[in-house]
Amino acid sequence: MKAPKKLYIKTYGCQMNVYDSERMADAITSTGYDLVEKPDDADMILLNTCHIREKAAEKIYSELGRYRKFKDAKPDLKIGVAGCVAQAEGEEIIHRQPMVDLVVGPQAYHRLPEMLAKVDAGKRAIDTDFPIEDKFDHLPRGPKARRAPSAFLTVQEGCDKFCAFCVVPYTRGSEVSRPPQKLLAEARDLVERGVAEINLLGQNVNAYLADDWSLARLIREMAKIDGLERIRFTTSHPADMGDDLIAAHGDVEKLMPYLHLPVQSGSDKILKRMNRKHTAADYLKILDKIRAVRPDIALSGDFIVGFPEEEESDFQATLELCEQVRYAMAYSFKYSVRPGTPAANRGLVDADIANDRLQRLQKLLTGHQMDFQQSMVGKTLPVLLEKPARDPGQLVGKSPYLQAVHCQADKSLIGKIVNIKVTRSERNSLVGDLIS
Ligand code: SAH
Ligand code: SF4
Ligand code: F3S
Repeated sequence: MKAPKKLYIKTYGCQMNVYDSERMADAITSTGYDLVEKPDDADMILLNTCHIREKAAEKIYSELGRYRKFKDAKPDLKIGVAGCVAQAEGEEIIHRQPMVDLVVGPQAYHRLPEMLAKVDAGKRAIDTDFPIEDKFDHLPRGPKARRAPSAFLTVQEGCDKFCAFCVVPYTRGSEVSRPPQKLLAEARDLVERGVAEINLLGQNVNAYLADDWSLARLIREMAKIDGLERIRFTTSHPADMGDDLIAAHGDVEKLMPYLHLPVQSGSDKILKRMNRKHTAADYLKILDKIRAVRPDIALSGDFIVGFPEEEESDFQATLELCEQVRYAMAYSFKYSVRPGTPAANRGLVDADIANDRLQRLQKLLTGHQMDFQQSMVGKTLPVLLEKPARDPGQLVGKSPYLQAVHCQADKSLIGKIVNIKVTRSERNSLVGDLIS
Protein backbone atom coordinates (compact mmCIF):
# COMPACT_ATOMS: atom_id res chain seq x y z
CA MET A 1 0.00 0.00 0.00
CA LYS A 2 1.23 3.50 -0.82
CA ALA A 3 2.15 5.67 2.18
CA PRO A 4 -0.46 8.38 2.67
CA LYS A 5 0.47 11.83 1.41
CA LYS A 6 0.61 14.72 3.85
CA LEU A 7 -1.90 17.56 3.92
CA TYR A 8 -1.34 20.82 5.78
CA ILE A 9 -4.22 23.27 6.15
CA LYS A 10 -3.88 26.79 7.54
CA THR A 11 -7.06 28.64 8.43
CA TYR A 12 -7.60 32.40 8.55
CA GLY A 13 -10.70 34.50 9.21
CA CYS A 14 -13.95 33.61 10.91
CA GLN A 15 -15.27 30.47 12.55
CA MET A 16 -17.04 29.52 9.35
CA ASN A 17 -13.62 29.00 7.82
CA VAL A 18 -12.70 26.80 10.76
CA TYR A 19 -15.74 24.63 10.10
CA ASP A 20 -15.03 24.58 6.36
CA SER A 21 -11.41 23.58 6.96
CA GLU A 22 -12.56 20.63 9.07
CA ARG A 23 -14.90 19.54 6.31
CA MET A 24 -12.22 19.98 3.63
CA ALA A 25 -9.76 18.01 5.74
CA ASP A 26 -12.38 15.25 5.95
CA ALA A 27 -12.89 15.29 2.18
CA ILE A 28 -9.20 15.37 1.26
CA THR A 29 -8.08 12.78 3.81
CA SER A 30 -10.68 10.42 2.34
CA THR A 31 -8.66 10.56 -0.92
CA GLY A 32 -5.45 9.26 0.69
CA TYR A 33 -3.94 12.11 2.68
CA ASP A 34 -3.05 12.40 6.37
CA LEU A 35 -3.43 15.74 8.11
CA VAL A 36 -0.14 17.16 9.47
CA GLU A 37 0.58 20.03 11.84
CA LYS A 38 3.43 21.71 9.94
CA PRO A 39 3.89 22.72 6.30
CA ASP A 40 7.56 21.62 6.18
CA ASP A 41 7.25 18.21 4.55
CA ALA A 42 3.66 18.40 3.34
CA ASP A 43 2.65 17.15 -0.13
CA MET A 44 -0.25 19.55 -0.22
CA ILE A 45 -0.62 22.95 1.48
CA LEU A 46 -4.05 24.52 1.54
CA LEU A 47 -4.66 28.04 2.80
CA ASN A 48 -8.25 28.78 3.80
CA THR A 49 -8.26 32.54 3.49
CA CYS A 50 -10.08 35.69 4.62
CA HIS A 51 -10.71 38.84 2.58
CA ILE A 52 -12.45 40.96 5.19
CA ARG A 53 -9.74 43.62 5.56
CA GLU A 54 -6.83 44.51 3.31
CA LYS A 55 -4.26 43.24 5.81
CA ALA A 56 -5.96 39.84 6.00
CA ALA A 57 -5.84 39.47 2.21
CA GLU A 58 -2.24 40.67 1.84
CA LYS A 59 -1.10 38.23 4.54
CA ILE A 60 -1.93 35.40 2.16
CA TYR A 61 0.59 36.53 -0.43
CA SER A 62 3.38 36.84 2.11
CA GLU A 63 2.49 33.41 3.47
CA LEU A 64 2.59 31.96 -0.06
CA GLY A 65 6.02 33.58 -0.54
CA ARG A 66 7.29 31.63 2.49
CA TYR A 67 6.40 28.36 0.78
CA ARG A 68 8.86 28.96 -2.09
CA LYS A 69 11.55 27.02 -0.20
CA PHE A 70 9.25 24.05 0.33
CA LYS A 71 8.39 23.96 -3.35
CA ASP A 72 12.08 24.19 -4.29
CA ALA A 73 12.86 21.28 -1.97
CA LYS A 74 9.87 19.23 -3.15
CA PRO A 75 8.76 20.18 -6.68
CA ASP A 76 5.75 17.84 -6.39
CA LEU A 77 4.30 19.92 -3.57
CA LYS A 78 0.82 21.20 -4.44
CA ILE A 79 -0.36 24.56 -3.14
CA GLY A 80 -4.02 25.49 -2.94
CA VAL A 81 -5.88 28.66 -1.96
CA ALA A 82 -9.44 28.30 -0.65
CA GLY A 83 -11.81 30.70 1.09
CA CYS A 84 -12.75 34.31 0.56
CA VAL A 85 -9.53 35.53 -1.10
CA ALA A 86 -9.90 32.68 -3.59
CA GLN A 87 -13.44 33.80 -4.31
CA ALA A 88 -12.61 37.49 -4.56
CA GLU A 89 -9.43 37.24 -6.60
CA GLY A 90 -9.77 33.95 -8.51
CA GLU A 91 -7.26 33.63 -11.31
CA GLU A 92 -5.50 36.83 -10.21
CA ILE A 93 -3.92 34.76 -7.41
CA ILE A 94 -2.10 32.64 -9.96
CA HIS A 95 -0.90 35.72 -11.81
CA ARG A 96 0.54 37.12 -8.61
CA GLN A 97 1.86 33.79 -7.35
CA PRO A 98 2.38 31.25 -10.16
CA MET A 99 3.31 28.54 -7.64
CA VAL A 100 -0.36 28.10 -6.82
CA ASP A 101 -1.93 24.95 -8.31
CA LEU A 102 -5.48 25.22 -7.04
CA VAL A 103 -7.95 28.02 -6.32
CA VAL A 104 -11.30 27.07 -4.84
CA GLY A 105 -14.08 29.41 -3.68
CA PRO A 106 -16.05 28.74 -0.47
CA GLN A 107 -19.12 27.35 -2.24
CA ALA A 108 -17.25 24.84 -4.42
CA TYR A 109 -15.50 22.70 -1.81
CA HIS A 110 -17.47 19.59 -2.69
CA ARG A 111 -15.67 19.62 -6.03
CA LEU A 112 -12.28 19.32 -4.32
CA PRO A 113 -11.76 15.58 -4.98
CA GLU A 114 -12.10 16.14 -8.77
CA MET A 115 -9.98 19.25 -8.58
CA LEU A 116 -7.25 17.36 -6.73
CA ALA A 117 -7.25 14.66 -9.39
CA LYS A 118 -6.69 17.37 -11.99
CA VAL A 119 -3.88 18.90 -9.96
CA ASP A 120 -2.29 15.46 -9.49
CA ALA A 121 -2.28 15.12 -13.27
CA GLY A 122 -0.12 18.25 -13.41
CA LYS A 123 -2.85 20.72 -14.34
CA ARG A 124 -4.17 23.80 -12.57
CA ALA A 125 -7.68 23.80 -11.11
CA ILE A 126 -9.78 26.91 -10.49
CA ASP A 127 -13.40 26.90 -9.34
CA THR A 128 -15.15 29.97 -7.98
CA ASP A 129 -18.71 29.08 -9.00
CA PHE A 130 -21.73 29.38 -6.75
CA PRO A 131 -23.33 26.03 -7.66
CA ILE A 132 -26.92 25.42 -6.63
CA GLU A 133 -26.21 22.11 -4.88
CA ASP A 134 -25.34 22.11 -1.16
CA LYS A 135 -21.58 21.78 -0.80
CA PHE A 136 -21.95 20.08 2.57
CA ASP A 137 -24.20 17.39 1.08
CA HIS A 138 -21.59 16.42 -1.43
CA LEU A 139 -18.43 16.70 0.64
CA PRO A 140 -17.20 13.20 1.45
CA ARG A 141 -17.02 12.44 5.21
CA GLY A 142 -14.03 10.91 6.92
CA PRO A 143 -14.12 8.10 9.49
CA LYS A 144 -16.02 8.77 12.71
CA ALA A 145 -13.30 10.32 14.80
CA ARG A 146 -13.70 11.48 18.40
CA ARG A 147 -14.17 15.24 18.59
CA ALA A 148 -13.24 18.00 21.02
CA PRO A 149 -16.02 18.92 23.53
CA SER A 150 -17.00 22.11 21.69
CA ALA A 151 -17.80 22.10 17.99
CA PHE A 152 -18.92 24.46 15.25
CA LEU A 153 -21.84 23.63 13.01
CA THR A 154 -22.55 25.86 10.01
CA VAL A 155 -26.32 26.23 9.61
CA GLN A 156 -26.47 29.21 7.27
CA GLU A 157 -24.12 30.74 4.74
CA GLY A 158 -23.90 33.93 2.78
CA CYS A 159 -25.30 37.37 3.38
CA ASP A 160 -27.94 39.54 1.68
CA LYS A 161 -27.36 42.59 3.85
CA PHE A 162 -24.76 44.40 1.75
CA CYS A 163 -23.27 46.62 4.42
CA ALA A 164 -21.42 49.27 2.42
CA PHE A 165 -17.97 48.24 3.72
CA CYS A 166 -18.22 44.47 3.54
CA VAL A 167 -16.98 41.84 1.06
CA VAL A 168 -18.90 38.90 2.52
CA PRO A 169 -22.00 39.13 0.26
CA TYR A 170 -19.61 38.89 -2.70
CA THR A 171 -17.28 36.19 -1.38
CA ARG A 172 -19.91 33.95 0.19
CA GLY A 173 -22.90 34.66 -2.01
CA SER A 174 -26.52 35.07 -1.00
CA GLU A 175 -28.13 33.69 2.15
CA VAL A 176 -28.74 29.95 2.11
CA SER A 177 -29.95 27.93 5.11
CA ARG A 178 -29.28 24.22 5.47
CA PRO A 179 -32.28 21.91 6.06
CA PRO A 180 -33.11 21.48 9.79
CA GLN A 181 -33.34 17.70 9.70
CA LYS A 182 -29.82 17.41 8.31
CA LEU A 183 -28.54 19.79 10.96
CA LEU A 184 -30.23 17.85 13.75
CA ALA A 185 -28.68 14.64 12.39
CA GLU A 186 -25.26 16.29 12.25
CA ALA A 187 -25.70 17.57 15.81
CA ARG A 188 -26.60 14.06 17.03
CA ASP A 189 -23.56 12.68 15.24
CA LEU A 190 -21.33 15.29 16.91
CA VAL A 191 -22.72 14.38 20.33
CA GLU A 192 -22.00 10.69 19.66
CA ARG A 193 -18.40 11.69 19.03
CA GLY A 194 -18.07 13.43 22.39
CA VAL A 195 -19.29 16.93 21.67
CA ALA A 196 -21.09 18.67 24.57
CA GLU A 197 -21.38 22.18 23.12
CA ILE A 198 -22.41 23.22 19.62
CA ASN A 199 -21.91 26.69 18.25
CA LEU A 200 -24.29 27.26 15.35
CA LEU A 201 -22.62 29.36 12.70
CA GLY A 202 -23.75 31.64 9.93
CA GLN A 203 -22.52 34.87 8.39
CA ASN A 204 -25.97 36.00 9.35
CA VAL A 205 -27.06 33.14 11.54
CA ASN A 206 -30.27 34.67 12.87
CA ALA A 207 -31.53 35.07 9.30
CA TYR A 208 -31.74 31.25 9.30
CA LEU A 209 -34.94 30.13 7.63
CA ALA A 210 -35.46 26.67 6.15
CA ASP A 211 -38.72 24.76 5.64
CA ASP A 212 -40.41 27.39 7.82
CA TRP A 213 -37.96 26.76 10.64
CA SER A 214 -36.46 29.82 12.31
CA LEU A 215 -33.18 29.72 14.21
CA ALA A 216 -35.17 29.75 17.47
CA ARG A 217 -37.07 26.61 16.44
CA LEU A 218 -33.85 24.90 15.40
CA ILE A 219 -32.30 25.74 18.78
CA ARG A 220 -35.37 24.46 20.64
CA GLU A 221 -35.24 21.13 18.78
CA MET A 222 -31.52 20.80 19.18
CA ALA A 223 -31.86 21.38 22.92
CA LYS A 224 -33.83 18.10 23.09
CA ILE A 225 -30.75 16.07 22.12
CA ASP A 226 -29.54 14.11 25.16
CA GLY A 227 -25.87 14.67 25.85
CA LEU A 228 -25.81 18.04 24.15
CA GLU A 229 -25.33 20.40 27.07
CA ARG A 230 -24.75 23.80 25.54
CA ILE A 231 -25.85 25.71 22.45
CA ARG A 232 -24.48 28.99 21.13
CA PHE A 233 -24.89 30.84 17.86
CA THR A 234 -22.96 33.48 15.97
CA THR A 235 -22.97 35.99 14.17
CA SER A 236 -26.29 37.79 14.32
CA HIS A 237 -27.55 40.93 12.64
CA PRO A 238 -29.77 43.32 14.65
CA ALA A 239 -32.36 43.49 11.86
CA ASP A 240 -32.95 39.71 12.10
CA MET A 241 -33.20 39.52 15.89
CA GLY A 242 -36.77 38.17 16.05
CA ASP A 243 -38.87 37.97 19.21
CA ASP A 244 -38.83 34.14 19.14
CA LEU A 245 -35.04 34.13 19.31
CA ILE A 246 -35.06 36.68 22.11
CA ALA A 247 -37.61 34.53 23.98
CA ALA A 248 -35.41 31.44 23.54
CA HIS A 249 -32.74 33.21 25.58
CA GLY A 250 -35.21 33.31 28.43
CA ASP A 251 -36.49 29.74 28.41
CA VAL A 252 -34.04 27.40 26.67
CA GLU A 253 -31.75 26.36 29.46
CA LYS A 254 -29.08 24.96 27.15
CA LEU A 255 -28.83 28.22 25.22
CA MET A 256 -25.87 30.02 26.77
CA PRO A 257 -26.20 33.61 28.07
CA TYR A 258 -23.94 35.19 25.48
CA LEU A 259 -24.87 37.17 22.39
CA HIS A 260 -22.55 38.55 19.74
CA LEU A 261 -24.55 41.31 18.12
CA PRO A 262 -22.39 43.70 16.09
CA VAL A 263 -23.57 47.30 15.76
CA GLN A 264 -20.49 48.82 14.05
CA SER A 265 -21.25 52.44 15.07
CA GLY A 266 -23.34 54.41 17.54
CA SER A 267 -24.11 57.19 15.05
CA ASP A 268 -27.33 57.02 13.04
CA LYS A 269 -25.73 59.02 10.24
CA ILE A 270 -22.92 56.49 9.91
CA LEU A 271 -25.24 53.50 10.36
CA LYS A 272 -27.28 54.81 7.45
CA ARG A 273 -24.21 55.33 5.30
CA MET A 274 -23.08 51.82 6.22
CA ASN A 275 -26.47 50.50 5.06
CA ARG A 276 -26.96 48.74 8.39
CA LYS A 277 -30.79 48.95 8.22
CA HIS A 278 -31.23 49.95 11.88
CA THR A 279 -30.59 52.90 14.18
CA ALA A 280 -28.67 52.99 17.45
CA ALA A 281 -31.99 53.19 19.32
CA ASP A 282 -33.32 50.07 17.51
CA TYR A 283 -30.20 48.25 18.60
CA LEU A 284 -30.47 49.32 22.23
CA LYS A 285 -34.13 48.32 22.27
CA ILE A 286 -33.19 44.77 21.25
CA LEU A 287 -30.65 44.61 24.06
CA ASP A 288 -33.28 45.81 26.54
CA LYS A 289 -35.63 43.03 25.45
CA ILE A 290 -32.92 40.41 25.80
CA ARG A 291 -31.86 41.69 29.19
CA ALA A 292 -35.49 41.57 30.30
CA VAL A 293 -35.61 37.79 29.70
CA ARG A 294 -31.98 37.04 30.52
CA PRO A 295 -30.59 39.72 32.86
CA ASP A 296 -27.13 38.14 33.12
CA ILE A 297 -26.54 37.93 29.35
CA ALA A 298 -22.99 38.75 28.26
CA LEU A 299 -23.02 40.99 25.21
CA SER A 300 -20.42 41.22 22.54
CA GLY A 301 -20.08 43.47 19.51
CA ASP A 302 -18.02 44.58 16.52
CA PHE A 303 -17.09 48.17 15.69
CA ILE A 304 -15.60 49.95 12.73
CA VAL A 305 -13.95 53.33 13.30
CA GLY A 306 -12.92 55.78 10.62
CA PHE A 307 -15.71 54.85 8.23
CA PRO A 308 -15.93 57.51 5.45
CA GLU A 309 -17.49 60.75 6.76
CA GLU A 310 -17.20 59.73 10.42
CA GLU A 311 -16.76 62.94 12.38
CA GLU A 312 -15.72 63.33 16.00
CA SER A 313 -19.38 63.70 17.01
CA ASP A 314 -20.23 60.38 15.30
CA PHE A 315 -17.36 58.73 17.10
CA GLN A 316 -18.57 60.21 20.39
CA ALA A 317 -21.94 58.55 19.74
CA THR A 318 -20.12 55.22 19.41
CA LEU A 319 -18.36 55.79 22.74
CA GLU A 320 -21.67 56.69 24.36
CA LEU A 321 -23.34 53.57 23.04
CA CYS A 322 -20.51 51.47 24.47
CA GLU A 323 -20.87 53.19 27.84
CA GLN A 324 -24.55 52.34 27.81
CA VAL A 325 -24.13 48.70 26.80
CA ARG A 326 -20.95 47.81 28.70
CA TYR A 327 -19.91 44.89 26.51
CA ALA A 328 -18.41 41.79 28.10
CA MET A 329 -16.31 41.48 24.96
CA ALA A 330 -15.92 43.53 21.80
CA TYR A 331 -13.89 43.65 18.62
CA SER A 332 -12.99 46.92 16.97
CA PHE A 333 -11.37 47.60 13.62
CA LYS A 334 -10.15 50.51 11.59
CA TYR A 335 -12.11 50.84 8.37
CA SER A 336 -10.35 49.10 5.50
CA VAL A 337 -11.28 49.91 1.90
CA ARG A 338 -12.51 46.83 0.06
CA PRO A 339 -12.50 47.08 -3.73
CA GLY A 340 -15.91 46.55 -5.29
CA THR A 341 -17.92 47.46 -2.16
CA PRO A 342 -20.24 50.51 -2.20
CA ALA A 343 -18.09 52.51 0.24
CA ALA A 344 -14.87 51.92 -1.71
CA ASN A 345 -14.98 55.23 -3.59
CA ARG A 346 -15.85 57.48 -0.66
CA GLY A 347 -13.45 59.95 0.92
CA LEU A 348 -11.34 58.51 3.72
CA VAL A 349 -10.99 59.76 7.28
CA ASP A 350 -7.41 60.88 7.97
CA ALA A 351 -5.36 57.82 9.02
CA ASP A 352 -3.98 59.44 12.19
CA ILE A 353 -7.46 60.42 13.31
CA ALA A 354 -8.77 56.91 12.63
CA ASN A 355 -5.85 55.35 14.54
CA ASP A 356 -6.44 57.67 17.47
CA ARG A 357 -10.16 56.81 17.56
CA LEU A 358 -9.39 53.12 17.44
CA GLN A 359 -7.08 53.45 20.44
CA ARG A 360 -9.61 55.46 22.43
CA LEU A 361 -12.38 52.98 21.66
CA GLN A 362 -10.23 49.97 22.49
CA LYS A 363 -9.24 51.50 25.80
CA LEU A 364 -12.88 51.93 26.75
CA LEU A 365 -13.88 48.45 25.56
CA THR A 366 -10.96 46.78 27.36
CA GLY A 367 -11.96 48.54 30.57
CA HIS A 368 -15.50 47.20 30.27
CA GLN A 369 -14.22 43.71 29.52
CA MET A 370 -12.03 43.84 32.64
CA ASP A 371 -15.01 45.03 34.72
CA PHE A 372 -17.13 42.17 33.43
CA GLN A 373 -14.44 39.60 34.19
CA GLN A 374 -13.83 41.12 37.61
CA SER A 375 -17.55 40.77 38.38
CA MET A 376 -17.10 36.98 38.09
CA VAL A 377 -14.45 36.81 40.84
CA GLY A 378 -15.89 35.04 43.89
CA LYS A 379 -18.67 33.41 41.86
CA THR A 380 -18.96 29.71 41.18
CA LEU A 381 -19.48 29.05 37.47
CA PRO A 382 -20.28 25.89 35.51
CA VAL A 383 -17.34 25.43 33.16
CA LEU A 384 -17.10 23.04 30.23
CA LEU A 385 -13.53 21.78 30.39
CA GLU A 386 -12.10 21.62 26.88
CA LYS A 387 -8.36 20.89 26.87
CA PRO A 388 -5.07 20.99 28.77
CA ALA A 389 -3.83 24.53 29.43
CA ARG A 390 -0.26 25.63 28.86
CA ASP A 391 0.59 25.37 32.56
CA PRO A 392 1.19 21.76 33.60
CA GLY A 393 -1.67 20.16 35.53
CA GLN A 394 -4.13 22.82 34.42
CA LEU A 395 -7.13 22.54 32.17
CA VAL A 396 -8.94 25.31 30.36
CA GLY A 397 -12.63 25.52 29.62
CA LYS A 398 -15.39 28.05 29.00
CA SER A 399 -17.81 29.72 31.34
CA PRO A 400 -21.43 30.17 30.19
CA TYR A 401 -20.35 33.72 29.25
CA LEU A 402 -17.66 32.38 26.89
CA GLN A 403 -14.72 33.42 29.03
CA ALA A 404 -11.75 31.08 29.18
CA VAL A 405 -11.40 29.65 32.71
CA HIS A 406 -8.24 27.94 33.95
CA CYS A 407 -8.07 25.53 36.86
CA GLN A 408 -6.05 22.70 38.32
CA ALA A 409 -7.85 19.49 37.28
CA ASP A 410 -7.31 15.97 36.04
CA LYS A 411 -7.41 15.35 32.28
CA SER A 412 -10.17 12.78 32.78
CA LEU A 413 -12.50 15.75 33.34
CA ILE A 414 -12.12 17.04 29.77
CA GLY A 415 -15.57 17.17 28.20
CA LYS A 416 -17.33 17.54 31.57
CA ILE A 417 -19.09 20.56 32.99
CA VAL A 418 -17.66 21.26 36.45
CA ASN A 419 -18.19 23.98 39.03
CA ILE A 420 -15.31 26.36 39.41
CA LYS A 421 -15.00 29.09 41.99
CA VAL A 422 -13.34 32.05 40.27
CA THR A 423 -10.44 33.44 42.27
CA ARG A 424 -8.78 35.83 39.81
CA SER A 425 -9.29 37.69 36.56
CA GLU A 426 -6.40 37.94 34.13
CA ARG A 427 -6.13 39.84 30.85
CA ASN A 428 -8.14 37.46 28.71
CA SER A 429 -9.19 34.74 31.09
CA LEU A 430 -10.32 33.76 34.57
CA VAL A 431 -8.58 31.50 37.06
CA GLY A 432 -10.38 29.42 39.67
CA ASP A 433 -10.60 26.37 41.91
CA LEU A 434 -12.44 23.19 41.08
CA ILE A 435 -15.37 22.74 43.49
CA SER A 436 -17.13 19.69 42.06
N1 SAH B 1 -21.45 38.62 9.46
C1 SAH B 1 -20.90 39.22 10.57
C2 SAH B 1 -19.41 39.39 10.52
C3 SAH B 1 -18.84 40.13 9.42
S1 SAH B 1 -17.12 40.31 9.41
C4 SAH B 1 -21.65 40.49 10.86
O1 SAH B 1 -22.50 40.89 10.13
O2 SAH B 1 -21.42 41.08 11.87
C5 SAH B 1 -16.70 40.67 11.06
C6 SAH B 1 -16.48 42.11 11.35
O3 SAH B 1 -15.45 42.64 10.57
C7 SAH B 1 -17.66 43.00 11.06
O4 SAH B 1 -18.63 42.93 12.03
C8 SAH B 1 -17.00 44.35 10.98
O5 SAH B 1 -16.91 44.95 12.23
C9 SAH B 1 -15.60 44.03 10.48
N2 SAH B 1 -15.42 44.45 9.09
C10 SAH B 1 -16.08 44.01 7.99
N3 SAH B 1 -15.67 44.67 6.90
C11 SAH B 1 -14.73 45.56 7.30
C12 SAH B 1 -13.96 46.55 6.64
N4 SAH B 1 -14.07 46.79 5.33
N5 SAH B 1 -13.09 47.30 7.39
C13 SAH B 1 -12.97 47.09 8.72
N6 SAH B 1 -13.69 46.18 9.39
C14 SAH B 1 -14.56 45.41 8.70
FE1 SF4 C 1 -20.92 41.87 6.08
FE2 SF4 C 1 -22.98 43.30 6.89
FE3 SF4 C 1 -23.37 40.86 5.91
FE4 SF4 C 1 -22.22 41.15 8.27
S1 SF4 C 1 -24.32 41.74 7.74
S2 SF4 C 1 -21.55 39.81 6.64
S3 SF4 C 1 -21.04 43.01 8.03
S4 SF4 C 1 -22.63 42.61 4.78
FE1 F3S D 1 -13.18 36.47 6.30
FE2 F3S D 1 -14.71 35.28 4.57
FE3 F3S D 1 -15.12 34.89 7.14
S1 F3S D 1 -13.93 37.32 4.39
S2 F3S D 1 -14.48 36.82 8.01
S3 F3S D 1 -13.34 34.30 6.01
S4 F3S D 1 -16.66 35.04 5.57
